Amino acid sequence: MRVLIVGSLGQLGTDLVREYADQEVIAYDFEDMDITDDESVQQRIAAAAPDLVINAAAYTRVDECEREHVRAFQVNAIGPLHLATACKRWDIPLVHISTNYVFDGLKENPYVEEDAARPINSYGITKLAGEDYIRYTWEKHFLFRVAGLFGLTPSRMKGTNFVEAMLRLGSKGNPLKIVYDEVLSPTYTKDASKIIKTVAATNQYGIYHLNNSGSCSWLAFAKEIFKQSNMDVSLIPVTAKEYGSPEKRPKNSCLENRRLLAQGIEPLQTWQAALSDYLKERKNTFLS
Ligand SMILES: NC(=O)c1ccc[n+]([C@@H]2O[C@H](COP(=O)([O-])OP(=O)(O)OC[C@H]3O[C@@H](n4cnc5c(N)ncnc54)[C@H](OP(=O)(O)O)[C@@H]3O)[C@@H](O)[C@H]2O)c1
Repeated sequence: MRVLIVGSLGQLGTDLVREYADQEVIAYDFEDMDITDDESVQQRIAAAAPDLVINAAAYTRVDECEREHVRAFQVNAIGPLHLATACKRWDIPLVHISTNYVFDGLKENPYVEEDAARPINSYGITKLAGEDYIRYTWEKHFLFRVAGLFGLTPSRMKGTNFVEAMLRLGSKGNPLKIVYDEVLSPTYTKDASKIIKTVAATNQYGIYHLNNSGSCSWLAFAKEIFKQSNMDVSLIPVTAKEYGSPEKRPKNSCLENRRLLAQGIEPLQTWQAALSDYLKERKNTFLS
């Protein structure tokens, strides 16, 4: 099978490329195919003639999406439309990665696939528009909403992920202000990639929630990172408002993986176990 992975240099994209190493992979990033350029997308996909297209490319800097509305919309909404149009023309299933930030965060329990999406920031609005364009254009789609990603290749756009940011800031010895009133389900890109590959091998199209099991606040996530790394770092709990992010973020963005379960896929390991795997692999990668 020939798989075309877009956003292949990103945090999730690099693990997807590794996961599909037993297949023929065409790995494209911004330099190879700008998804906002329709002509380039149509030509490149026609020339590559893949059996599956996976889109892990996105404008992922949530705060910047508040100022760069047009660019964020082009990458997160129009880009997926171009991909869906090409996939429909050549009858190729499309895997697209979306986000827990399509929800407003007001629900008390984890969100299920059927819950109404009501984004509260520009990033979420553009990502939901991307989902809608795909649903409207091409039925052979898999939409995976993931959350709080951490992977061995830190986010290409952000230059880091939460785990790496904590390890770097924590090593400086100063107390850290961390948000305690936003809850999420942190997710290891390696675990997510395995499930994406499993589901994409079926014809069970549609929307899937995908994250490691359990949930935590950013503060509890930071505590666990330092506990597992044997680092003694003083943490100051703050609200998101006190922290002063320019964008609104959902208070609760945990996802229940109900559809995966219904397909007979076991729940992913807990986020704590996933973090432990990540820290071990990080050590092996960076010390080897
Ligand atoms: N990170 C998270 O915590 C998180 C949470 C929920 C959902 N998600 C979703 O998960 C997916 C993967 O996120 P990630 O953290 O792996 O992202 P990432 O590391 O920032 O990677 C995104 C990739 O997309 C590329 N890209 C940007 N604009 C492009 C364009 N116009 N054409 C082609 N490629 C372009 C970027 O290239 P350049 O760097 O050259 O621009 C980058 O390599 C995204 O859909 C994101 O919305 C992420």
